[in-house]
Amino acid sequence: MIRHDVVVVGAGCAGMRAAIEAKRAGVDVAVVSKLHPTRSHSGAAEGGINAALGNATEDSPESHTFDTVKGSDYLGDQDAIAVMCHEAPGDIYELEHMGAIFTRGTDGRLAQRPFGAAGAPRTVYSADITGHVLIHVLYEQLLKHDVTVYEEFFATQLVVDGGRCAGVLAWDIVRGGLHAIEAKHTILATGGMGRMYYGTTNAYACTADGMSLAWRAGVPLKDMEFMQFHPTTLKSNGVLITEGCRGEGGYLRNADGERFMASPAPNAMELASRDVVSRAEWVEIAEGRGVDGCVLLDLTHLGAKKIKSRLPGSRELAIDYAGVDPIDEPIPVRPGAHYQMGGVDVDIWGETIVPGLFAAGEVACVSVHGANRLGGNSLMETITFGRRAGQAAAERAREEVDVHARIDRAAVRDEERRLEGILTSTEGERPWEIRDELARTMYDKAGVFRTESALLECREKVAELRERARRLRIDDKGTRFNTDLMSALELHSLLEGADCLVTGALARQESRGAHSRLDYTERDDERWMKHTLTWYDRGEVRLDYKPVTVTKYQPLVRSY
Ligand code: FUM
Repeated sequence: MIRHDVVVVGAGCAGMRAAIEAKRAGVDVAVVSKLHPTRSHSGAAEGGINAALGNATEDSPESHTFDTVKGSDYLGDQDAIAVMCHEAPGDIYELEHMGAIFTRGTDGRLAQRPFGAAGAPRTVYSADITGHVLIHVLYEQLLKHDVTVYEEFFATQLVVDGGRCAGVLAWDIVRGGLHAIEAKHTILATGGMGRMYYGTTNAYACTADGMSLAWRAGVPLKDMEFMQFHPTTLKSNGVLITEGCRGEGGYLRNADGERFMASPAPNAMELASRDVVSRAEWVEIAEGRGVDGCVLLDLTHLGAKKIKSRLPGSRELAIDYAGVDPIDEPIPVRPGAHYQMGGVDVDIWGETIVPGLFAAGEVACVSVHGANRLGGNSLMETITFGRRAGQAAAERAREEVDVHARIDRAAVRDEERRLEGILTSTEGERPWEIRDELARTMYDKAGVFRTESALLECREKVAELRERARRLRIDDKGTRFNTDLMSALELHSLLEGADCLVTGALARQESRGAHSRLDYTERDDERWMKHTLTWYDRGEVRLDYKPVTVTKYQPLVRSY
């Protein structure tokens, strides 16, 4: 048995920030991660991180709060949003003091670029590789603080004993074998689930692992129907072309060269919120004004100097994966699944209803994004709520001197038998076959626009795939670096996440943020300004609801 005070599962920005904070508080901390930390998907974040520093124009945490509430289409919890927006500036300065090299303006202060639906330029950035910079800085801090890291350990189960989380069971991917990792407090920070969609910006590792662990452990998932589609992704492989391109002045054009955002968002144009831009693109493409299933992101008027200094990564991606140099030609882009706004239901300290279990970052739903996340707010969420979860878990661990988390041998043996069953199976389908079918179904039937009939078909297909996934064929019978086994485990999580998403989406008979129903086109605050909760009920999804926290801002009609 391995034992720590606090164990963080996942090593992206939220996980590392949580571990650093817990370690600073003087407790024994470990990180368990299926990837080496610097390979985590946080590294793919490009355009920046939002904080109202007021370096470009006047700004305030309160304006940031209001924009985020409005952007969320009034589904975000206003107490959580206020926490993030007011603590963000301090968190940014701390990252900078840790060594994050942010781009600076000519006055020497941190530069801030405009992002969608933000009332002021408030996105702090490192060219267009902000996530990459942050994970390296946080990893240095992890090493500096001497945090134990179980690298390439795959958490397969949370152990809940007597109503309290006692830690995780994790498979050692490199050497093989299951380990029980006991902890007084466990923090999930495993990221999102975009891989259940065919066109996605998400890394192969984003497979709903933590959501499914928590769900099976009796914690409800909140607002799972809200999957954000990012408007500018490459058709060939889903790779993100940052919103920073539009923040720096890029245009979206249709096949006729028109800036089509003039109609749905005459003021904000290309910098309307992502749900609005994605829908507008979808309509252009569907009505025949697209170019090979895409619209065009035009940066040519920005000039080579600006593109090379502010958007070097986007240029490289466009050249490598779309075969166009944005200095000379527009980039074909289309909406792709980008970010799960729902997740493990937590409070403003990241705590779940199961004692001993916390969650932070994309795996969690606190909820600061509601029905539509503003670009740049997710990196901020990982840092602010990662820090808070680390602090809260460490404080609890220090206070609870009488708590001794214990994982029963029997729980380990049961899990070993389950994994052995998967490993030895010789009949059934290959995991990737079911995963591909799931991804195509989700993209086609639970995408940018939704209808009851498509969602019903989607739910039926997900149920069928869950049934078929009971019999998977694993060709690799070894225990060392068995990616075949990993993909089987990931598939189960994806299917459970998809079931929660589609069940919530089918029930929500309104259009709000990223959940856009062609059969219920209006937002319905009277019936639906509430959070969806999806509970685990003997393997099936059970729905429930809870109120949204409103402090200052009553719902208004959104316009851009
Ligand atoms: O477009 C982007 O750079 C993505 C940012 C985000 O999702 O916050």
